[in-house]
Amino acid sequence: MVLPMIELNTGMNMPQIGLGTWKAEAGKVGEAVRYALEEAGYTHIDCAAIYENEAEIGEALSSVFSRGSVKREDVFITSKLWNTEHDPTRVRHACEKTLKDLQLDYLDLYLMHWRIAQNDTGEIIDIPFEETWQAMEMLVETGLVRAIGVSNFTEDMLTSLLERVAIVPAMNQVEMHPYLPQESLRAFCHEKNIHITAYSPLGRPGGQHEGDPTPKLIDHPIVMSIAKAYGKTPAQVLLRFGLDRGVVVIPKSTTPSRIAENIDAISFTLSQEDITKLLALEIPHRYVEPSLWWGIPYFS
Ligand SMILES: NC(=O)c1ccc[n+]([C@@H]2O[C@H](COP(=O)([O-])OP(=O)(O)OC[C@H]3O[C@@H](n4cnc5c(N)ncnc54)[C@H](OP(=O)(O)O)[C@@H]3O)[C@@H](O)[C@H]2O)c1
Repeated sequence: MVLPMIELNTGMNMPQIGLGTWKAEAGKVGEAVRYALEEAGYTHIDCAAIYENEAEIGEALSSVFSRGSVKREDVFITSKLWNTEHDPTRVRHACEKTLKDLQLDYLDLYLMHWRIAQNDTGEIIDIPFEETWQAMEMLVETGLVRAIGVSNFTEDMLTSLLERVAIVPAMNQVEMHPYLPQESLRAFCHEKNIHITAYSPLGRPGGQHEGDPTPKLIDHPIVMSIAKAYGKTPAQVLLRFGLDRGVVVIPKSTTPSRIAENIDAISFTLSQEDITKLLALEIPHRYVEPSLWWGIPYFS
């Protein structure tokens, strides 16, 4: 199986589909990663320190690489710097901890997870994200990571970052799906040579916040009717929507049949007419809403 690739602004290739691991439970995530790499044909895993499962993922990666079924250099591994590690003096240590947990010598991509800095008790503190970024630039210099990027950055945040830094982020990982297509951000990033990874590309079925009245994206009649017309599943249509817009998609699953179903989204393409129908589903609606965690709206 040949996965579609995108070329980052570093010249490196990144598989356009990968396995997400947020809320991938202990006791399941390692097997999901093994299955994805050894049986389903994935070569890209999306991790983060805050998911608290990097040690189990590291065990799985180590077994896969030591069996030789898949080589380290053929897998693209992303992780993310958590908010409590934004102090420039803590960035390297945080990255080394992730590398130790994942049992790796280097990461292909390291992202600043949010622009928000917090102290160890969770209070929001004032560390300009440009300073954190400069410490992340040093990680590239020392070879711990091959590329750096950001996550949950708006156009304004990127503009401010670009004015002050040496390395242009290779990636902006943001929520993106038909209810939140973010066309303006997509065009802005394209112009600046920053790629986009779409997180929650399926609309987090099963993971909506309690009380969220928004109908499940995966059950939307338009998504279902397009799926029927192509003989594909609604999940595959949602992933294809991302692939056809040129973004990277990272669906999370620990269910082997779904892990296989999701990567099969590479096997077809949507017509422009169907992409337009899906774009018209914009609400906009965020499934990942930081105001619920930190009491501040997304764009502040
Ligand atoms: N940078 C950030 O701030 C950020 C935020 C959110 C997410 N992410 C990353 O993006 C990844 C994906 O986003 P997400 O986990 O929020 O949401 P998602 O991938 O849109 O949805 C995951 C949910 O969909 C289910 N599922 C997977 N494949 C399915 C299929 N074919 N049919 C029906 N249901 C299916 C999964 O269940 P099962 O596992 O039970 O199969 C899981 O409940 C994350 O895991 C994480 O790596 C990053």
